[in-house]
Amino acid sequence: MTKTVLLTGGAGYIGAHTFVALAKAGFSPLIFDNFSNADPDTPARIAQITGAAVPCVKGDLLDKPALAQVFADYDITAVIHFAAKKAVGESMRDPLAYIENNSVGLINLLNEMQNHATRAFVFSSSATVYGAPEHLPIPETAPLSFANPYGFTKLIGEQVLEQAASVNPQWAVGILRYFNPAGAHESGLLLQSPRNSAAPPENLMPRMLEVARGEQPFLTVFGDDYDTPDGTGVRDYIHITDLARGHVLSLQKLLETGQGHTVNLGTGRGYSVLEMIAAFKQASGQELPHKIMPRRAGDIASCYADVRRARELLGFTAEYGLLDMCASSWAGAQE
Ligand code: WQD
Repeated sequence: MTKTVLLTGGAGYIGAHTFVALAKAGFSPLIFDNFSNADPDTPARIAQITGAAVPCVKGDLLDKPALAQVFADYDITAVIHFAAKKAVGESMRDPLAYIENNSVGLINLLNEMQNHATRAFVFSSSATVYGAPEHLPIPETAPLSFANPYGFTKLIGEQVLEQAASVNPQWAVGILRYFNPAGAHESGLLLQSPRNSAAPPENLMPRMLEVARGEQPFLTVFGDDYDTPDGTGVRDYIHITDLARGHVLSLQKLLETGQGHTVNLGTGRGYSVLEMIAAFKQASGQELPHKIMPRRAGDIASCYADVRRARELLGFTAEYGLLDMCASSWAGAQE
């Protein structure tokens, strides 16, 4: 059997872009997704980009027999684990659903892996594990904490992996701490938010797209009284194409060395909400009416990455800038 890279949540925003990058790098990716936050036609859209069939199994990490069947049917060399709920606000409203889905799902996956010859595991973590950072830019050695149940599950996930890897020395684990993914594949076929999503998007870029498409009358800016240059929240936005490439470099390093790593994936540069609005207008020509409203619970003022370890260990440096992220998001939203 072909050596396969299992992408849990591989039909999602980051998963689909990573599938394309892996296929381009010569890997054989396989999607395992419950499609709770992904459009059903995403595998077909990926196939339009790669020009090849897209192996996909619809299933849930909480369904142990389904998970066992995937490992029985495919020779899985590596896993990239995206499948998780990821909306901060939703996690505040339903913490147990987040812990069951994200943490129990991870443990089921690792238990199944232990029965097979899987060697590498890449974990989709997040800058949210840094909580409110004491220093900026944020290095991987910064203190870890959580400010909401979503962040709690990411921090627990990292700790579970450290323990599991310690008793499975044949595993090489890569923990990738994403900052703020944005943008879209140049084809315009892969979207940041699914079209049929039950819950409205919470992230800034999808919310800006809603306003640009006339689906919302204005953008809510959550607070302008932070200790930042213009008072609005500052984040490190990284183009999804850069982020996907970071996953390929991480997997290649794990398979090559058998050594694990924990790495920030960001640009090292922070932009405020108002700077994002200005960049979106410059890139798309779309005015974004906006209103300053009170801060959002769980938000922090500033967050941007120290990118030295990614560069030194993986040879990774982000190549796309804010205008690329805004232009590609807007182009993808035109369909
Ligand atoms: C960005 C900035 C908001 C919406 C979260 C997770 C992180 C990662 C990305 C999941 C903040 C402001 C937003 C809006 C606004 N994981 N904003 N109006 O909260 O930095 O990070 O998503 O994908 O792990 O923590 O991202 O896009 O929600 O917010 O003013 O309508 O935009 O206050 O300053 P966040 P975000």
